[in-house]
Amino acid sequence: MQTVHRAYFKDSRNMQAIGSASVELVVTSPPYPMIEMWDEGFGALDPAVRKALKANDARAAFALMHAGLDAVWKETHRILKPGGFACINIGDAARSVGDDFMLYPNHARILSCLLELGFTPLPAVLWRKQTNAPNKFMGSGMYPAGAYVTLEHEYILIARKGAKREFSSKEEKRRRRESAIFWEERNAWYSDVWMEPKGTRQNLKKKKPRTRSGAFPFELAYRLISMFSVKGDTVADPFLGTGTTLRAAAAAGRNSIGYEIEPEFRQDVFADLAALTAQTQQRIRSRIDEHLAFVEQRLADGREIKHINRPYRFPVVTRQETELLFDLVEELSPFEHDSLRATYSNDPVRVLDPRCSTPTNHRPETNGQLYLF
Ligand SMILES: C[S@@+](CC[C@H](N)C(=O)[O-])C[C@H]1O[C@@H](n2cnc3c(N)ncnc32)[C@H](O)[C@@H]1O
Repeated sequence: MQTVHRAYFKDSRNMQAIGSASVELVVTSPPYPMIEMWDEGFGALDPAVRKALKANDARAAFALMHAGLDAVWKETHRILKPGGFACINIGDAARSVGDDFMLYPNHARILSCLLELGFTPLPAVLWRKQTNAPNKFMGSGMYPAGAYVTLEHEYILIARKGAKREFSSKEEKRRRRESAIFWEERNAWYSDVWMEPKGTRQNLKKKKPRTRSGAFPFELAYRLISMFSVKGDTVADPFLGTGTTLRAAAAAGRNSIGYEIEPEFRQDVFADLAALTAQTQQRIRSRIDEHLAFVEQRLADGREIKHINRPYRFPVVTRQETELLFDLVEELSPFEHDSLRATYSNDPVRVLDPRCSTPTNHRPETNGQLYLF
């Protein structure tokens, strides 16, 4: 199997390189309106934003910033196939402009745009991002009534274009079965409050154009891709930043395509392909390790596990997991302009054994026993 990952260093208000109804999933995180680190970026796209901020007209600035994002949500709707999903990570902002402190409800504003565009909104994830920062409490401290509650969560908005996706052909059904997630992953991932992943390091190769990238964690993109698409699909990210979505898509065996307005991020997106390959492999193996630990605990608790996963011969809780099959990235290599190609192995020996350095066709004798037990 192979997948391709392409970046365009252009403005995503017009994603003309992506055909209409051509991608199955959009995973993204826009610059957050009214968070100070993004003021300059919004101002560069629309000078009226700068003017409004200078005049302390925060409500006008908020409206103008979102007008810029609305154009990208419209493009998002255009490029998605019917039945495709949009997952948008966004935080609200709380800020003083002039003498006025208020909340800027970015998630609500984006949701209402999605509704207007005809998306079907679905239950969202509240991503808890706890901080120990001493300044997390805002306002009058111990004196009522001028203190404000902390802002320690973000949202992952989830919306679908049109009706439910159909998996009609034999091939589509197979890809879906192989893309199953573990039962215990389902229980955590499809919960409406995520206590993790933790935030991510914001280091950039160059300190320009900003000192922080605003990157989301690899795990966030990886989970969403695993939850809302199947192998071989294409995932788009209109606000690519450092390329987290491309890396997570490669790890999950999906194709990907991203837009990023700052060409300086090219070197972050295509940095250190060997390390990137290792990161994708590590995630597959940690899923297996976590599953095996879960199985061990469940058996130790005296609970039954009825089914066996066919490729790996380990126990799984439900029939839906029996054909779950991982594709392990063997190599990520440059491919055409601003693109990568990933090649995979799905040999169970290679996938299960991190000590194997080369793919092998050798299958250990199982004698009808479980593969690992
Ligand atoms: C919150 S960051 C995304 C970070 C990304 N998820 C990551 O993990 O690195 C938003 C990104 O959108 C980019 N951006 C802002 N407006 C844009 C536009 N109109 N078109 C394309 N990219 C844009 C910014 O430069 C920034 O890198």
